[in-house]
Amino acid sequence: MTQTMQQQPPVLVLGGTGKVGRRVAARLTARGVPVRIGARTAVPTFDWNDPATWPGILTGEQSVFISYAPDIAVPGAPQAVAEFTEQAAAHGATRVVLLSGRGEQEAEAAERLVQDGPLPWTILRCSWFAQNFSENFLLDPVLGGEVALPVDTVTEPFVDCDDIAEVATEALLDDRHAGELYELTGPRLLTFGDAIGEIARAAGRPIRFITIPLEEFTAGLAAAGLSPDEVSLVSYLFATVLDGRNSSLRNDIERALGRPPRDFADYARETAKTGIWSR
Ligand SMILES: NC(=O)c1ccc[n+]([C@@H]2O[C@H](COP(=O)([O-])OP(=O)(O)OC[C@H]3O[C@@H](n4cnc5c(N)ncnc54)[C@H](OP(=O)(O)O)[C@@H]3O)[C@@H](O)[C@H]2O)c1
Repeated sequence: MTQTMQQQPPVLVLGGTGKVGRRVAARLTARGVPVRIGARTAVPTFDWNDPATWPGILTGEQSVFISYAPDIAVPGAPQAVAEFTEQAAAHGATRVVLLSGRGEQEAEAAERLVQDGPLPWTILRCSWFAQNFSENFLLDPVLGGEVALPVDTVTEPFVDCDDIAEVATEALLDDRHAGELYELTGPRLLTFGDAIGEIARAAGRPIRFITIPLEEFTAGLAAAGLSPDEVSLVSYLFATVLDGRNSSLRNDIERALGRPPRDFADYARETAKTGIWSR
């Protein structure tokens, strides 16, 4: 049952300034639901690396959206997520929605701990975000006209962060989604070259995609100033997770929302209109 707005205490959105979290926060706000953001730049501040900041954002009987930073695939993420969930429950939280990743060992460990934890849960196990090309590390290469990655023919069902946020919002407000593990994918399998082709078409300018060796890619990341931990995470995602294990479609967005997921071409067209790829 959906709670009425008067009864609804602030929903806690961890990562509420990030790609998915800020879309969740915006949707909740548009529906008149009070929101508390959990992030280092929010007030009060919340830092996954400083557990002393955790109790300060817990306000009682609330739904909690967890987007772990820097990435649910890093060692230590499952324990931090489980510990936070325990603390939230002890403060009176009523449900948890976890943003997770597809085909990732640590992510699945975090999912299991949440499933075995004290709160009713919904898991959103997501494919690669389409918005990585417009709001993340792939934006600069797209703007530079050449995207060089250590992948060739592997396909990925890129999922739109707006779809993820819509499912998350429903799961935070409606008991119907409790106990559901939704595997969120887009409606179409694309290679990275296909995705760049869609973006180039939508942006109306040439963008080249090339496959490069992993070593060259990681050396480029290090030269661009990424920390060794960040380089190792991105390498893990490209070398291990993008091996074809996630090259399949699921209809869980339709199952959760009663409508199909947005296609990558729609994402590309709408994003091109914002001008972000024309700077
Ligand atoms: N990108 C993908 O394709 C993909 C696919 C599947 C799953 N995921 C998962 O999705 C999550 C990332 O979501 P996103 O892309 O929406 O995030 P994002 O855009 O990178 O934003 C990260 C959010 O976390 C906050 N944050 C960063 N460091 C923090 C810290 N130490 N303590 C507390 N908050 C911190 C940031 O705010 P402040 O900077 O203000 O702290 C921001 O709100 C990760 O868990 C990732 O594993 C990603």
